[in-house]
Amino acid sequence: MSIIVNKDKKIFLLQSKNNSYAFGIDNLGLVRHLYWGSKIESIEDFEMPILTEVSTNDPVFEITKEEFPVYGSLRYKEHCLKATFSDKTREIVYKYQDYEIIKEKKIEELIIKLKDDNYDFYINLHYKIYEEYDLIERYVSLKNMSNDIIEIEKIHSGQFHIPYEDLNFSNVHGHWGAEQQRFVQKVNYGKIVIENRRGISTHNHNPYFILDRDATETSGEVFFGALKLSGNFSGVIEQTQYGETLVQLGINSHDFKLNLEPGEEFVAPSILSGYTNGGFETMTHNLHKFAKDNVLRKGLRPVLYNSWEATEFKVSCDEQIKLARKAKEIGAELFVVDDGWFGERHGIDNGLGDWYVNKEKFPEGLNPLIKEVKEMGMMFGIWVEPEMVNPKAELYKKNPDWIYHFDTRESDTSRGQYVLDVTKKEVKEFIYNMLDELLTTYDIDYIKWDANRPISQSSVKKDIWYKHIEAIYDIVKELKIKHPNVLFEACASGGGRIDYGILGIFDDFWTSDNTDAYDRLAIQDSYSYIYPIKAMRAWVTDCPNFLSRRVIPMKFRYHSAMMGTLGIGCNILKFTDEDINLSKELINEYKQIRHIIQEGDFYRLENSSKNRYSIYQYNKEDESLLFVFLPQSEIGHRGVTIRLRGLEEDSNYILKLEEKQIIKSGKYLMNHGIDFKLFGDYDSRIIKINKIVR
Ligand code: GLA
Repeated sequence: MSIIVNKDKKIFLLQSKNNSYAFGIDNLGLVRHLYWGSKIESIEDFEMPILTEVSTNDPVFEITKEEFPVYGSLRYKEHCLKATFSDKTREIVYKYQDYEIIKEKKIEELIIKLKDDNYDFYINLHYKIYEEYDLIERYVSLKNMSNDIIEIEKIHSGQFHIPYEDLNFSNVHGHWGAEQQRFVQKVNYGKIVIENRRGISTHNHNPYFILDRDATETSGEVFFGALKLSGNFSGVIEQTQYGETLVQLGINSHDFKLNLEPGEEFVAPSILSGYTNGGFETMTHNLHKFAKDNVLRKGLRPVLYNSWEATEFKVSCDEQIKLARKAKEIGAELFVVDDGWFGERHGIDNGLGDWYVNKEKFPEGLNPLIKEVKEMGMMFGIWVEPEMVNPKAELYKKNPDWIYHFDTRESDTSRGQYVLDVTKKEVKEFIYNMLDELLTTYDIDYIKWDANRPISQSSVKKDIWYKHIEAIYDIVKELKIKHPNVLFEACASGGGRIDYGILGIFDDFWTSDNTDAYDRLAIQDSYSYIYPIKAMRAWVTDCPNFLSRRVIPMKFRYHSAMMGTLGIGCNILKFTDEDINLSKELINEYKQIRHIIQEGDFYRLENSSKNRYSIYQYNKEDESLLFVFLPQSEIGHRGVTIRLRGLEEDSNYILKLEEKQIIKSGKYLMNHGIDFKLFGDYDSRIIKINKIVR
């Protein structure tokens, strides 16, 4: 049982494998936080403290640890909910009414039911406990049972209370081509805000928080939460004046208003939250395992070839067939035609919206290419950017009011395109029908769904910042009902849509347009803290890399991309025999080990050397892999001692180190470790480790 209730004391204790989370209802009917941390079995230990104000200038609400603070009364802190009623009252006064526990597939969910004291406005706080993953999914639902519209001006999905000061906050920063740059900063007095206001992409910050007490990979307390939302989010981290740290995550209230109609219910995006005293590795494992078991589509992901970097917009049936044959020869299993196959798409300024096959490029349609790809035993995929339209496209000429706009203003183009207002019923239907027809007419296994610009002139409705992405989720969910085998890749100019909102609806993330194998190591490392490896698409591309101008040996490029779900984006028609042979060998190797990479447990190992080694480990049952990278041997040219993780202490393992086979115990490998050395520039190895099964 993961929910324990003391009805007399009105205290709720949520139990997962190693942790507890407790809150209760006080004599004013407020939902007050009591505890979040390591497991405490007995609910009887918990009491609701009596609060007294610090002074008249520090009202009691300011020091009350509320689970869901609303706007109103003597509350000046961050609130989760602000609403204006039809009589212009803009204060919420809620009272606890009841609770309910529901159970679905062994997962227990606690619902705390609150109601406004004066209006028929209901607030439900939901807590779903994923016991074995040590995770709690929190969300809130609102229901307007009055006869008037209620305006929601702010809705954050929950508040977390961490009973410490001076925590470390980590997230990522970045921009196009440089996504997922991890940063860590000390939390001090004042607020840290991370957010997205762009409607489409989150290249900058990512909707999650990690707060730790000087944790390492393998030790220390970590509190974390990831929001299931790809649209405008905000996260606030605040060390208060009263000795704790508060965190909120939810829909960004910037330029936001939601009209809750009479009878309407609104469910805000949820937060997947957790605590561990076992360091970042445990946090990663809990989230990855949850995603693998419950979010991601089952099965191993195919090795992909994508023609974008090879041809850009200059696609033609004949050349795509040639590329497909070469892709097959090196071992690709999925051939994806990227941008340029449709309408008058010869560059960025035309074609989007006109989703017919370009006759000059494909005189007999897509079928000759698809037939060839299928006859070779490969899957077929195609690129689309359905939320967008170019001003020159027929679609725009016929429906100029389908884009986000203000009647008296000119709409911006960005990358030569407008954004379609997918919150309009007719636009949503157009996109669904266009994709449904594409998937029905052609034998397509994979859709790469792109979105290459943020929203502007966002229409008079202030809810589009959230409703836009909701419409996209709906379209893909609906398409998957009719076309259940089609895989969807979420791309937004590279890694603009990496979050738990889209994961599961889409199957893969295009991690970044930055395909430089060295830059990717950093991107992949940061990504791995929260998001599962199986969804991380990584390509090998040509050198010099178009962004970094760096030339990196092909083996290192493959090894870096093999850390995720492997793809190839090179112009393979220009490959030398040596390139082909190396590609064949490494793609074949990837196929032998991908089950460990995509489905195993992932470890970021310590680099104990003064040289910049990057070392990662994957474990799946009796098999393990080590990935070791050295971008450049530096002065001293040191080796590194690699201490492995997650092995069985008393089992023996066999591994091959530079042609030498060694057998060592788990204890030895994890404590003493193995001494290893790479040399020169861009050296890398994959080392396979097998448990000796008696
Ligand atoms: C975006 C994507 C690329 C590619 C191009 C096509 O930039 O991130 O991978 O698909 O669009 O225009």
